[in-house]
Amino acid sequence: IKNSRILITGGAGFIGSNLADHLIENNEIVVVDDLSMGKIENLPKSTQLHFFKHSITDTNFMSKLLVKWNFDYIFLLAAVASVADTISRPCETHKINQDANINVMEMVRVNKLPVKKILFSSSAAVYGNNPELPKCESSAIDPISPYAIDKFASERFVIDYGKLYHIPTVATRFFNVYGPKQNPKSPYSGVLSLISHSLMNDSIFTIFGDGKQTRDFTYISDVVSALELLSANPIANHEVYNVATEIPTSLNKVLKIFEKISGKKITLAYKNERKGDIRDSYADVSKIKQLGFSPRYSITYGLKKYWDML
Ligand code: UD1
Repeated sequence: IKNSRILITGGAGFIGSNLADHLIENNEIVVVDDLSMGKIENLPKSTQLHFFKHSITDTNFMSKLLVKWNFDYIFLLAAVASVADTISRPCETHKINQDANINVMEMVRVNKLPVKKILFSSSAAVYGNNPELPKCESSAIDPISPYAIDKFASERFVIDYGKLYHIPTVATRFFNVYGPKQNPKSPYSGVLSLISHSLMNDSIFTIFGDGKQTRDFTYISDVVSALELLSANPIANHEVYNVATEIPTSLNKVLKIFEKISGKKITLAYKNERKGDIRDSYADVSKIKQLGFSPRYSITYGLKKYWDML
């Protein structure tokens, strides 16, 4: 994308700020973020970056912003990403994880804004307890938390509303994304940010279960590439795409690779399996591969990059 006006909600967060870093050189970017999980330091320093510390749930604010800026691309990345948080306050988080996204669609429709594409970021969480592997976009969904329910509903809403009113939209289902700027502050943060935090601070890392559980760990740069590809490709319209590597890696393997890369030994503790955790997860990404996506970061290469940037 070049010479475009881009809105990134949640742009100070992990995925949003990495996307902003990538797009800032050739575009004008507006970030709306309430800094509940994101950090202002994550944002690139540039006169082409306009930051608003604001909640996306403020419809009046969002409406004025959208009309004023006439965005070419809108990346809906703001969300309460902690599943546990959505379980403890489902109504509040629903306003952020679903209502706010619907409102953006509505404002684009009502004001007839000429957006080139709206991209909504969903999650592998929508597959929930479905044991089928690998997970395809056509696999049964089985959301089991308010987080996953809101992600799925927003996904459908963005796609179907887009179809109805001829607004180009696409939704992405991210798997376990990792990389620089991921916040390790919550116990529900992504496991790789927790491991890297333990390594940096020589603190104990707790494995839930035996460490043989597997995940499709996806390096942030591959996610940013996928987002850019989907925004620019006209075939990617009113569709949902998995974004991952298709390769499952166990926690034990990740720990081994991390130790080798860092030259440090991780002090481990073991606890019972976390309630509600799935054992194995990996994606089929043939759908986005057909558009030219190819994940470039193996787990070893990705962890090395990540470690070098810490
Ligand atoms: C991830 C998403 C979640 C989504 C799910 C869908 C994150 C943070 N969570 O959960 O929103 O519902 O995918 O597939 O991206 N672990 C430890 N020790 C720790 C933390 C985690 O052993 O301190 C283990 C967990 O028990 C789990 C694995 O690491 O088996 C991965 O955990 P996590 O990073 O939280 O991601 P998911 O559970 O896959």
